[in-house]
Amino acid sequence: MSELRARFVDRTGAPAAPITFWPALVIPRSRIDEEIGRLAALPAPADGRRSALIVHPCAQEPGPGLAPGITVALNVLRPGERTRPVRHNSTQVDFCIRGSGRAEVAGTAIGFAPYDVWNTPSMAPYTIANDGDDLQVRLTYSNAALLEKLNIHVVEPAEGAARSAPERGGDVAPEPHATREPEALPLENGAYLMTYEQLINPRPVESRALHWPWKLVKARLDELVALGKDYRGRRLYLLFNPATGRTNGTTHSFFATITIRPPNIVDRPHRHTSAAINYYFAGRGRSTVEGQRFEWAAGDLMFSAPGWGVHNHASYDEPVYELTIQDSPLNIAMESLLWQEDLKGPVAVLGSEAGFRTNRAA
Ligand SMILES: [Fe+2]
Repeated sequence: MSELRARFVDRTGAPAAPITFWPALVIPRSRIDEEIGRLAALPAPADGRRSALIVHPCAQEPGPGLAPGITVALNVLRPGERTRPVRHNSTQVDFCIRGSGRAEVAGTAIGFAPYDVWNTPSMAPYTIANDGDDLQVRLTYSNAALLEKLNIHVVEPAEGAARSAPERGGDVAPEPHATREPEALPLENGAYLMTYEQLINPRPVESRALHWPWKLVKARLDELVALGKDYRGRRLYLLFNPATGRTNGTTHSFFATITIRPPNIVDRPHRHTSAAINYYFAGRGRSTVEGQRFEWAAGDLMFSAPGWGVHNHASYDEPVYELTIQDSPLNIAMESLLWQEDLKGPVAVLGSEAGFRTNRAA
């Protein structure tokens, strides 16, 4: 018999634990460049991956992230190098910040250039190659931090791997959208019962690698400047993956948005329980996060919003482009995405109740 014994922790009459914030911080371009140089100078590793995590000083093992649930890796490949195939149950967003290359994700080939984005689904075998002449640098954002905290991050080599499909029960083809009526036995009080057979065979939704080339995204993004000075929303596009359905994601955990900030645009202070990480790739500006002010410029990475911390961002005298990663789809799935667009206005549980509107004409 095990010697392990659970303990009882008395919380009778105890107040709720306060939220503690990891402070926002900027990782300046100079430090990123220095680490790129260090990775590029290493002898070629056996698995081909020259990689360093960018870790917040408050992070703890397991799952050291730049935000509590977001792993950020700086990945470098020298010309001619290729990573060995791997797969894992974390999902990721890749963002090329220098050079070019080719990703092969579960049979989908993606040729990428600076500021291109693509996603890697769960357990999809993938390799990355640098077939260009310059050093290739990528920022890779994943939910590995959270899975490691849950002790469930499965990572394995995928040499010649096909997607495993053990004892596929149903012959239901994956569908692009996840919405459906409950196929369950209604009780007269509005609750339902579901059989074990349904429990172990949820309807599959096809999860594919999608590619958002910067060339195509930029053309659409630049049109948003026409919204003008008085527009009260954000000039951005979500790089949307239809597999994420109602949670509006790029992966099932994160959304990636690319924003253009025309010169001298100041956001209203706001907050959301999703954490945010920004990478600025043009322009300069400032952010105020929980009362602390930060300056940033192109090439800087920033942990720009701790969950539920009040923040706003502003551009200076030139246009800013930025990629933002937030763990918003995860929070929508958990029904924990509180969002407050205006600090004098209401808080909404996004995904469960009506959200917000801008002053943009329909
Ligand atoms: Fe925000």
